[in-house]
Amino acid sequence: MTTATIPGRVNLIGEWIDFNGGTVLPMALSQSVELQLRANGQDYDRVRSAQFPDCIDFAINAPAAGHWSDYVRGGLQYARRQGWIGQGQDVTLKSNLPVGAGLSSSAATIVAALRAASAHLAAVDPVQIALAAKAVENDFIGVPCGIMDQMAVAVGAPGCVLALDTRDCSYQVIPLPADWTIAVVHSGIGRALADGRYKSRREECLQAAEALGVAYLCDGDLEASRALTPVLARRARHVISEGHRSLQAVTVLRAGDRQAFGALMNASHASLRDDLEVSVPEMDAMVRDAAEFGAAGARLTGAGFGGCFVCLIDTQRAGAWWHELQARHPGIQRIA
Ligand code: GLA
Repeated sequence: MTTATIPGRVNLIGEWIDFNGGTVLPMALSQSVELQLRANGQDYDRVRSAQFPDCIDFAINAPAAGHWSDYVRGGLQYARRQGWIGQGQDVTLKSNLPVGAGLSSSAATIVAALRAASAHLAAVDPVQIALAAKAVENDFIGVPCGIMDQMAVAVGAPGCVLALDTRDCSYQVIPLPADWTIAVVHSGIGRALADGRYKSRREECLQAAEALGVAYLCDGDLEASRALTPVLARRARHVISEGHRSLQAVTVLRAGDRQAFGALMNASHASLRDDLEVSVPEMDAMVRDAAEFGAAGARLTGAGFGGCFVCLIDTQRAGAWWHELQARHPGIQRIA
């Protein structure tokens, strides 16, 4: 039997730019997915999870079924094609990572399946694992995501920011300053990535890049983007400005400038709300109140449309800040 434990991630800044040539700043969480794998000698995979009552058998080559086990089975099918494992597997999944919250439980599950399936080999490069997990998400699950989540969970470590150049997967690991607290808060608003909104925003970004004559929208010219249709102009403004913000964020993080980093987070949220249009009014209110109660910065994290938001607070004030925010929004839940 082999086991792999893979963390979730929160993205501090650099949202919706991991397929647009941007640098992104995710951080691994202490919450994780644990996956156990054992060959069963059959022509089916048997998948069970501590979180769900059902125990499911799927033929080893069965396509995705819109079921939570797809993330495991996609990873196993990839591993089988590589010759990492043979026939069917019995899989048990345990997780303390909320599902559908924008914390990359899906990437963590796929990466865990790939890690467990390759555990007996000489160490497989984590970047190779991340690229494989992205291929599974794109081709098996059908979500055309970028590389941020898979890299963050395959390479990242809790407490350290991964400054990831999504063009070539090169990265720097930057420790979070001791007096910075990152709070990850679940809004209580559900979301699903596979429902088409991710795909349509992505299409708009690609169309804008093509119209501007650049391979990556982050390289687009802001002035020129004003001539695009109003929707594409807004998408381009988000991506181009977010690309600049995340590069500035690397500099101010290294300098330990919490206020400057927080201001970039606030601007990121406004841009996601107004230009990319991936926020929801309830989330906007929570983010606004988080700042009002003293967070240096607050923004939705992940793809948006609900799920979690992330806040940066002076460590000394974090307890009182949370008390006030929760009193105003009793439905929210602190994840980290
Ligand atoms: C999801 C995708 C990522 C990224 C974010 C938005 O998490 O999986 O690739 O695009 O949305 O930044």
